[in-house]
Amino acid sequence: MNNFIFENGTKTYFGKGCVREYLTCLSRHYGQTVMLAYGGGSIKRNGVYDEVMACLQKAGQKVIEFSGIGANPTYAKVLEGAKAARENKVDLILGVGGGSVMDCCKAISMAAVYDGDIWKDFWARPGVIDFEPLPLGVIVTVAGTGSEMNGGAVITNEELKIKTGRDYPKCNAKFALMDPTYTYSVPKEQMVSGGFDILSHIMETYFSEPDEGNVSDDISEALMRGVIRDLRAAIRDPQDYTARSNLMWESAMAENRIIKLGKRMDFECHQMEHQLGAYTNCNHGAGLAVLHPVYYRHIYKDGLAKFERFAVNVWGISPEGKSSEALAREGVEELAKFIREIGLPATLRELGVDETTDLKAIADSCNLASGGYRKMTHEEILKIFRECY
Ligand code: NZQ
Ligand code: ZN
Repeated sequence: MNNFIFENGTKTYFGKGCVREYLTCLSRHYGQTVMLAYGGGSIKRNGVYDEVMACLQKAGQKVIEFSGIGANPTYAKVLEGAKAARENKVDLILGVGGGSVMDCCKAISMAAVYDGDIWKDFWARPGVIDFEPLPLGVIVTVAGTGSEMNGGAVITNEELKIKTGRDYPKCNAKFALMDPTYTYSVPKEQMVSGGFDILSHIMETYFSEPDEGNVSDDISEALMRGVIRDLRAAIRDPQDYTARSNLMWESAMAENRIIKLGKRMDFECHQMEHQLGAYTNCNHGAGLAVLHPVYYRHIYKDGLAKFERFAVNVWGISPEGKSSEALAREGVEELAKFIREIGLPATLRELGVDETTDLKAIADSCNLASGGYRKMTHEEILKIFRECY
């Protein structure tokens, strides 16, 4: 194993009924005024809003509502939230939703107390947070990003057309409440895209050195098999508690830093998808589904041993009589088949990217990270985009 330091600052409450049981007590701890932040209104339709409000009222909290956080949250929305938090002297931000709400709330928790420009100082480049962001609590309503147990916040600067994620441990939520029954109402399209995002986080970690046997890769293989099994089960029966609760925990496990310990990683597929999102506002998990197989067809020969392991240990493919290359490639094709099976898009066209989109500009704006099996070039990314079309 490579060296590492591990800490996770989020206290996690998991399971059916956990919001009812713990939120009243948790919210009291931080003061009188709570900013309840949420997205486009799904929480009002599925009863989550009423349950949360009842807990906050029981705690005697003054509630400031901040709604309308859209998918791929923007820096403008962060500034709007920070202004509201300052004006109302908010003691706790409570984000209720998916990755977009949680990420926006993390950035708001910083911008509400920081005098400078947080984009410039913390997103345009990595910065050092030498102040305490406003306390944040999150209630997860869809499995996918794993934002609930890390300090990661992916923000889009619309003016600059840049979507960037940073993971600052100080932005970890103080607490996360995860009730799997809250995800029953997630539409199938979003459920599978969130599920694929989980798989992507694990693959982006797994396909990097070290390659010799290590704890991270072992856990990752078990998690990948689990996501595949649980997604299939949740598609068959959206109210399958076992599947939904597994997916929720798999999502957190993929991104709570545990499987990343000792790994190198470049998350290059995410780098590509984020810029695709910055230009087209596409759905994150669906964008990843389009890119992954094509990207892996480009790099599998550079990480052949791991791609072979993936074929055998994740997809159950028999290695008998097959060359290393053939076996590795079969694993990638099995992944592509799975993407089709669960109904995700397989081309940029299906994702809604039309021919007027400037793929070269998007490719040129992608961050080229190192840490994976091969560092990309902008030319190769453009090739990948064109093959995805
Ligand atoms: O906005 P509402 O009305 O709530 O509807 C949402 C939204 O339309 C809906 N939804 C959520 N829970 C629901 C529900 N609908 C019915 N019932 C429920 N229980 O789902 C839609 C998508 O929500 P969103 O939060 O946008 O999805 P997701 O969780 O996939 O988050 C995507 C964002 O997270 C970033 C992505 O780039 C993207 O901006 N990521 C954050 C990461 C992190 N912080 O660690 C890592 C990821 O790689 C990712 O980049
Ligand atoms: Zn992701």
